Amino acid sequence: MVKVAVVTGAAGGMGRAIVAKLLEDGLHVVGLDVDSDGMAEMAQQEGFAAIPTDLMDKSAIDAAFAQIASEHGGVDALVNNAGTCFMSEFPDIPEDEFERQMRLNFTAAFHCAQASIKLMTGRAGVRKIVNISSNGAYNFDAFDPPHYRASKAALDTLTKDLARRYATEQIAVNSIAPAMTQTPLFGVVSEEVLAKAIAQMPHGRAMQPEEIAAWVSFLISPAGNVSSGNVIILNQGRDVR
Ligand SMILES: NC(=O)c1ccc[n+]([C@@H]2O[C@H](COP(=O)([O-])OP(=O)(O)OC[C@H]3O[C@@H](n4cnc5c(N)ncnc54)[C@H](O)[C@@H]3O)[C@@H](O)[C@H]2O)c1
Repeated sequence: MVKVAVVTGAAGGMGRAIVAKLLEDGLHVVGLDVDSDGMAEMAQQEGFAAIPTDLMDKSAIDAAFAQIASEHGGVDALVNNAGTCFMSEFPDIPEDEFERQMRLNFTAAFHCAQASIKLMTGRAGVRKIVNISSNGAYNFDAFDPPHYRASKAALDTLTKDLARRYATEQIAVNSIAPAMTQTPLFGVVSEEVLAKAIAQMPHGRAMQPEEIAAWVSFLISPAGNVSSGNVIILNQGRDVR
């Protein structure tokens, strides 16, 4: 039976690469993203279904997963990839910006995991959740703001909790925590800050979304069945001390 993967933030830089790789792997992929135009551009891909969804809205998440249940019959893999990085300086972070940072990067992933686990029940094999975290939760030399770091640290704690909680039910949960990866998210910082951060990468270049997608694919493949509860740091070895 063809496996069904749900990818959030499907129309973004990393999301598009993850969708393309999972389609290449032979999965059916359901994309959730607020960018309906972006997903419309992807609609010609065989095996891809788009459900425009504002992941900051819990009722929209519920509606999306109800649609997934009725149209696809269940979920074998969830990739919590949607995220953003709001950049206000700590003392001036407006309450609303803090709420939105946490709501997209953590709360939405939490609710998508809740909904997916219900739809994973009774599916064959080891089912997978892959949370796209960030090096920002661990590296304090780079520019990342505190609410972004905290949202990703919370996500990684969710990864470990769910990994332990669902180990015997054969649901494997891991985080992938990339460093600088060339996507439209680079636009949140100035050219100068960006150049400095890229210069810190040991290979002298940013990583490409396809390089992250390959790891998502690996975790979702049978090779990933024995890995759960890990936060996999992808940064070309930048922070090894
Ligand atoms: N690019 C990097 O260097 C980098 C590094 C570490 C971690 N990450 C993480 O990778 C993930 C993907 O980021 P990216 O670099 O592809 O960014 P991106 O901005 O290219 O993509 C983010 C996607 O999320 C979608 N989105 C935003 N708000 C949404 C909402 N309310 N509801 C539904 N979808 C929404 C956007 O439409 C977009 O398609 C994020 O979680 C990010 O934190 C990125």
